[in-house]
Amino acid sequence: MNQLGVTLPGLKLKNPIMPASGPFGLGERYRDDFDYSILGAIIIKSTTSQARVGNPKPCYHHLDTGLLNAVGLKNPGVDVVVNEKLPALKDFDTPVIASVAGTTTAEFVEVTKKLCQSPYVKAIELNVSCPNVAEGGLTFGSNPEAVRLMTEAVKKIATVPVYVKLTPNVTDIVAIAQAAEKGGADGISMINSLLSMAIDLDTRKPYLSNKTGGLSGPAIKPLAIRMIYQVSRAISIPIIGMGGVSTADDVLEMIMAGASAVAIGTAQYKNPLACKEIIEALPIRMKELGIESIEGLITEVKEGRRNEY
Ligand code: FUM
Repeated sequence: MNQLGVTLPGLKLKNPIMPASGPFGLGERYRDDFDYSILGAIIIKSTTSQARVGNPKPCYHHLDTGLLNAVGLKNPGVDVVVNEKLPALKDFDTPVIASVAGTTTAEFVEVTKKLCQSPYVKAIELNVSCPNVAEGGLTFGSNPEAVRLMTEAVKKIATVPVYVKLTPNVTDIVAIAQAAEKGGADGISMINSLLSMAIDLDTRKPYLSNKTGGLSGPAIKPLAIRMIYQVSRAISIPIIGMGGVSTADDVLEMIMAGASAVAIGTAQYKNPLACKEIIEALPIRMKELGIESIEGLITEVKEGRRNEY
């Protein structure tokens, strides 16, 4: 048995680690730092129908325990992604998950259709959870019925598996996950960032031009763990976990909560080699903790769950 391998709908991962949508850009950002072929998968930055310039600067504010961002879904538009950015990843032996965003269901459908035409896209992540845009984003993702309908519409035309990315900015994330599953989602990815704000005492104004931004990084990991734990007990599709993960121990904790793979986001801003170092550290920590394989751990967690009832 491959010690680190994980199989998910549409994805045969050599290990459970992948960069989360965002910090990795469209694949170009860390290209010179390490060989992407070591990654389990790559989730690229969310793509919309037309290019978006994003929010005015400053759109990042670093905190001791995390990062506030309000990028505003900056991207060159789906045609550039399909014709230029995805082919640039062809030399890497790593499945690509393309993240889709938009302001209407029609836009999500159009972007998904185009991305599915690329031979490099092995799965879609539906970003119905961006906290930094006035339309679409978490206005969709916080309404269970809207999530179900959106998932259904995208599933009708998608030719690869669809993972729905959930926002934590809701009262009941379980209801949203169940709605995605009901709509036909093949998996869930969770959690996106937490709608937050920080104020500069000198200017007495928020640091971010957008005023609010999404909080990510170590501060949100316990929340992600709690939400993944709850959601994994309420659905039967797999979860790609994310939220403040920066070490191999964090990865194992997220799998013990109920995730089947783990995405690394903010940690890469501080350390571009974060994914590589975590992949290297995993077998060492697994040995110390008596974990024979990641698939074995996922199964053990699932069986443990059954025995709770
Ligand atoms: O502002 C942004 O581009 C963030 C996107 C997201 O968190 O999904």
